[in-house]
Amino acid sequence: MSPAKKILLLPGDGIGHEVTPAVRKVMDWFQSSGLTNFEITEGLIGGASYDVHGAPLTPETLEQAKSADAILLACIGGPKWDTLPFDVRPERGILGIRKEMNLFANLRPAVVFDALAGASSLKAEIVQGLDIMIVRELIGGLYFGQPRGIEDAPDGRRGFNTMTYSTSEVERIARAAFELARKRKGRLCSVDKANVLESSIVWRETVTALHAAEFSDVELSHMYVDACAMHLARAPRDFDVIVTENMFGDILSDLASTLTGSIGMLPSASFGAADASGRQPAIYEPIHGSAPDIAGKGLANPLAMMLSFSMMMRYSFVMNENANLLESAVQNVLKAGVRTADIVEKGQKSVSTDVMAETVVKELERLAV
Ligand code: IPM
Ligand code: MG
Repeated sequence: MSPAKKILLLPGDGIGHEVTPAVRKVMDWFQSSGLTNFEITEGLIGGASYDVHGAPLTPETLEQAKSADAILLACIGGPKWDTLPFDVRPERGILGIRKEMNLFANLRPAVVFDALAGASSLKAEIVQGLDIMIVRELIGGLYFGQPRGIEDAPDGRRGFNTMTYSTSEVERIARAAFELARKRKGRLCSVDKANVLESSIVWRETVTALHAAEFSDVELSHMYVDACAMHLARAPRDFDVIVTENMFGDILSDLASTLTGSIGMLPSASFGAADASGRQPAIYEPIHGSAPDIAGKGLANPLAMMLSFSMMMRYSFVMNENANLLESAVQNVLKAGVRTADIVEKGQKSVSTDVMAETVVKELERLAV
């Protein structure tokens, strides 16, 4: 067997402490059945790191992250840390690791699982079969632009941020999105606000030029972000791949994932550029947050975290059979009506995080023979 793949697990905060042990059960099953050879370590990030070290991201965790082949992160944050100074809030930990690892491409799928079409806030006939991918630029734009800050002003204080995009920043994310569209239905919608923002003018002209130069086989359209939000809520299946800047992507991906009725089901991945040896830094994480309202109650849905692990096996380790196996197990468990509280339907009883994990493991066991 090839050398062990190093995985760093970052449980983070809130329900992270429940969904991580759940995915661990699945990982242990893969390990003990000899299908994988992983070396798994755990680290601290977010509030959990602040409580121990006084910082949401330490050099040690960053070092662990950089030496891992892939990272599986649950979620961060919670009311306990909401009143901390801005620079040590849990969110700074996640933004810091993205920036330090240069993870510029964030892939956020919004998929409606057949068994869950009835759980959407939209009519089933609008969302059935929905399968879109939002490619969000992750380390530029308004989140990181300089100058930024808060200063004194005659009327009190003035807070300011800068939205900036350069040609090369747009090009690398657009290229990732075009390549992905090519592997899917061949359609890319680039979302900006070019009727108002200069950064969007550069965004649009760069995407258009790259399309003409390298990707004319992909069908490209442009949409303003407000129109895109409306279109997503009205006819989401019109989209295949959407590419957009950091903050627009943050907002649109929440909207898109909630349309699926299963935010507790959706994984995501963030990638940096591959190095000379082809090694590409990657963090996989569920789309959901730390859900402080249900944390500690055993109610959390561990499937998004499991599907994030599956995405890791598929994209970082090219273990497609393992990924297929895990995804089939999840599908079957859903079809059998096993649900956590967030996706329970009329007439079904909901199960706990642990029972869901054990059921998936049993199904893996059954499928593997
Ligand atoms: C997300 C989250 C983060 C973001 C927060 C936690 C910093 O909302 O991953 O979408 O805004 O990027
Ligand atoms: Mg968000």
